Amino acid sequence: MAERVARRSDEADVPADCAAAAAGGKFSWDPDVVSAMVDTTPQDTTCKDFSEHSMNVVELSGQFGIENLHVVERPRPTPGPGEVAIGVRAVSLNYRDLLMVRGQYNPRQPLPLIPASDGVGVVVAVGEGVTRVAMGERVCPLFAEGWLSGAPPPGVTRQTRGGPLDGMLAEVVVVPAHSVVVPPGHLTDAEAACLPCAMLTAWSALVTLGGIKAGDVVLIQGTGGVALSALALAKLHGAQVIMTSSSDEKLERVAALGADHGINYRTEPRWGDVARGLTGKRGVDLVVEVGGADTLAQSLRAVRPGGTIGLIGVLSGGLSQVRLESILMRQVRVQGVFVGNRDGFEAMNRAISAGGLRPVVDTTFELGATRAALEHMASGQHFGKVVVRL
Ligand SMILES: NC(=O)c1ccc[n+]([C@@H]2O[C@H](COP(=O)([O-])OP(=O)(O)OC[C@H]3O[C@@H](n4cnc5c(N)ncnc54)[C@H](OP(=O)(O)O)[C@@H]3O)[C@@H](O)[C@H]2O)c1
Repeated sequence: MAERVARRSDEADVPADCAAAAAGGKFSWDPDVVSAMVDTTPQDTTCKDFSEHSMNVVELSGQFGIENLHVVERPRPTPGPGEVAIGVRAVSLNYRDLLMVRGQYNPRQPLPLIPASDGVGVVVAVGEGVTRVAMGERVCPLFAEGWLSGAPPPGVTRQTRGGPLDGMLAEVVVVPAHSVVVPPGHLTDAEAACLPCAMLTAWSALVTLGGIKAGDVVLIQGTGGVALSALALAKLHGAQVIMTSSSDEKLERVAALGADHGINYRTEPRWGDVARGLTGKRGVDLVVEVGGADTLAQSLRAVRPGGTIGLIGVLSGGLSQVRLESILMRQVRVQGVFVGNRDGFEAMNRAISAGGLRPVVDTTFELGATRAALEHMASGQHFGKVVVRL
């Protein structure tokens, strides 16, 4: 990277002191990218050290609760060897972020915390030895920083962004270069920000772990971020999709997106039987299970013998009483899903590009309105992803 900086210095658009700091091996710096993507204030074009400048972040401090989120200034971080700094452009919220902020995901999470797992930005500085990405490239950081392939490594839950690691609600984040992925070029920033957690979870449930095939019948619960991602991916793979929702109006919207059948789980409490009926009593091949305690029994009624339940969420609680015989005697596979790894993310991006898929964005908020964005998510009125723009 020293070469890149030296070249730019020759063009006389990099201040000599910045180029010297970069050539000294601390990091590389591109003023065009920095000023265009992060901050247009004059001092950015004369900086000596990236860390001398402050940035805005959304911080949860003092105690848990949406009301304890504040926009504050922090020093802008500088990438060390093997790291990249990303000028964040958009962040998408996940239900996990809401639980984290409320103290319901991990009550022992140390504060202060910068929340949010999902986001996208542009590389604005690279540390020594980075070759995986270049300055100016648009990238998404992984949710689980060190999980590149295979099964989750031991301690994976200690390396997740948005808690316990600081998350994406910051103007600049520094992450290991091996933990970024280039999103499909046809997506807007808001859409690309939906990939690392919600879309990859759906991909893992259906493809990596679910082995989806053309002609399968997939049952998807709800109309949130994971659910609508699963709908798009299931249709891309040639599956029939049955979706459940608490709202008839939302069921009309999923039909417009390609869902084959919709069931209102409020007015049809035995929606599992209804879903099985829609398959001629054969049962569905795959269930995208986000409800947890209150929904697993109905999912077991819906799934075919030998079918798979991708256990993703516990929106209605994590303690369930189900008849274990209905799992073992019918050889049902209850498959835990924890987001996914870098290999899966890259495979998913190829599929998204090939199919021209676009995540469904419900509403976009400004950084200063992050509390309102989380409250909107908590209201359950959203359809798809809630995004914060930086
Ligand atoms: N395991 C993982 O790696 C992983 C990754 C991402 C998310 N998750 C989990 O997956 C769940 C969904 O996350 P998300 O970000 O997609 O949330 P979200 O965008 O807030 O979507 C939640 C949707 O689920 C539906 N829903 C709510 N309660 C339900 C219930 N009791 N039964 C059936 N559907 C219900 C609602 O749809 P309607 O409004 O249509 O009724 C709601 O809009 C959460 O529990 C989250 O923690 C897990």
